[in-house]
Amino acid sequence: MSEPPVSPQRLSIAVVGLGGIGGTAAGLLTRTGLHDVTACVRKPLERLMVEGPDGAFEVPLTALTDPADARPVDWVLLCTKTHETASAGPWLERLCTPSTTVAALQNGIDHVERIAPYVNGAAIVPALVYYNGERLAPDHVRYKPVSENELVVPDDAGGRAFAALMGDTPLHVLVSADFVTLKWRKLLVNAIANPITALTLQRFAVFERPDIQLLSLAILDEAGRVARVDGAGLHDDESQRVLKMVRGFGANLSTSTYFDRLAGRPFEVEALTGAIVAAGERYGIATPLNGLLLTLLRAISEENAKTQT
Ligand SMILES: NC(=O)c1ccc[n+]([C@@H]2O[C@H](COP(=O)([O-])OP(=O)(O)OC[C@H]3O[C@@H](n4cnc5c(N)ncnc54)[C@H](OP(=O)(O)O)[C@@H]3O)[C@@H](O)[C@H]2O)c1
Repeated sequence: MSEPPVSPQRLSIAVVGLGGIGGTAAGLLTRTGLHDVTACVRKPLERLMVEGPDGAFEVPLTALTDPADARPVDWVLLCTKTHETASAGPWLERLCTPSTTVAALQNGIDHVERIAPYVNGAAIVPALVYYNGERLAPDHVRYKPVSENELVVPDDAGGRAFAALMGDTPLHVLVSADFVTLKWRKLLVNAIANPITALTLQRFAVFERPDIQLLSLAILDEAGRVARVDGAGLHDDESQRVLKMVRGFGANLSTSTYFDRLAGRPFEVEALTGAIVAAGERYGIATPLNGLLLTLLRAISEENAKTQT
């Protein structure tokens, strides 16, 4: 097989965190052959199998396991869970300069604030993730598109550059002029789905209970008040729409927070419910229901973190 041509725009890309999301992005970018992709991982890895809607393929991987071996790159794709951002700090320190752009493929609404302390002045592109990624083994991921676009970024220079970077992969990137609405809309789904499945230890079928539906609407109304003040252009019946969407997820599926709780791992709390409560505090809007969920989830997640170390 002949080598792919080296274009003048050949870029260096580091993917930090090779779970369902990062493994998929790293595999698809490597397959294009257009750029130099390095995986930053905790355990050695030589190859990666990626399963997608068009079948499976395998790519050889360039992987580093020690941040001391990392060099500055053009792009970093940060794909750890949000609560693992600090632990990825040593990677970001070595990979980033002010000429680097970091795309954060993570949940939440505060990507820039979360990541800025680690990236040496690099530009940051917040990316909402709409594909389902699952790591089946350390060297094997499966992804499933679940919406028209797999990634959403703001319509600015960084967002447009990220869309161009991913342009040769099957992941569609929507560049949105109303990112604030879209990021809150996604957070609202997580505002009920993650806490309620994790606290009840039940899958999405729990949303068929009338009492859970009433509670969900109250949590969403509260979060929606904060979102609107933050600039999100939500529908009048946004809470009902979100609940309908969550009820449409497979009854037997569940959230990463539910699975993390089952496995006794810490989970994404601060970036989801924590972000709603923090924004409420910033704007002077009371969020007692989300605050209650936050306290309960924090207590469990922080205890899990202690027993993990
Ligand atoms: N998966 C989905 O379908 C989905 C959908 C929408 C949004 N998201 C969001 O996307 C983000 C990534 O999710 P994910 O599902 O891909 O998470 P994940 O499967 O847990 O993967 C995270 C990866 O980060 C790695 N990691 C953590 N700390 C690290 C460090 N210090 N250095 C190197 N690697 C490190 C982990 O490595 P180890 O294997 O060594 O632990 C793991 O492979 C999250 O914010 C999530 O909420 C996910």
